[in-house]
Amino acid sequence: MAKTLVAYFSASGQTARLAQTVAKVTGGDLFSILPAQPYTAEDLDWREQNSRSTLEMRNPDARPSVVSRVQNMEEYDTIYLGFPVWWYTAPRIVQTFLESYDLAGKTIVPFVTSGGSGYGKTNALLERSCPGAALKKGTRLASNASEPDVRAWVASV
Ligand SMILES: Cc1cc2nc3c(=O)[nH]c(=O)nc-3n(C[C@H](O)[C@H](O)[C@H](O)COP(=O)(O)O)c2cc1C
Repeated sequence: MAKTLVAYFSASGQTARLAQTVAKVTGGDLFSILPAQPYTAEDLDWREQNSRSTLEMRNPDARPSVVSRVQNMEEYDTIYLGFPVWWYTAPRIVQTFLESYDLAGKTIVPFVTSGGSGYGKTNALLERSCPGAALKKGTRLASNASEPDVRAWVASV
């Protein structure tokens, strides 16, 4: 039977909170994309030119390592993919995740949290990392979005 996965990266908990609501509403299995090297507050300092996140986002080839894989990816046909907006787009580790699997034929539904920026042109970056998948337009949601709000979004996808 076709199954739903809710995979998310969250450096400081906002997207994790939203992903839990998305999993509850969709009945999907939750998977946390965990960096092999956790991000410290220093790493996340976007004002700092030489912070880890700044350097990663400036390097199109950066692919931060992850701790673990989804073992049964072939069982899922829909993947809700959550992440924070970093520099108006997706953190590099989201590309690491996508490029770790053959996702052709699957539907990917991105959702983001941010300090205010929308989803923007993020698909221009992500579509290269999931060839053959149906990558939907992503949506920014509040990290504390209610179940009815998330349900309305899911129904509209
Ligand atoms: C390195 C970095 C870059 C960010 N860039 C943006 C941005 O371009 N636009 C924005 O609205 N918020 C930006 N933010 C804020 C995050 O998107 C926001 O705090 C998000 O909800 C954090 O999610 P998390 O707790 O799941 O990591 C950035 C945060 C970090 C750490």
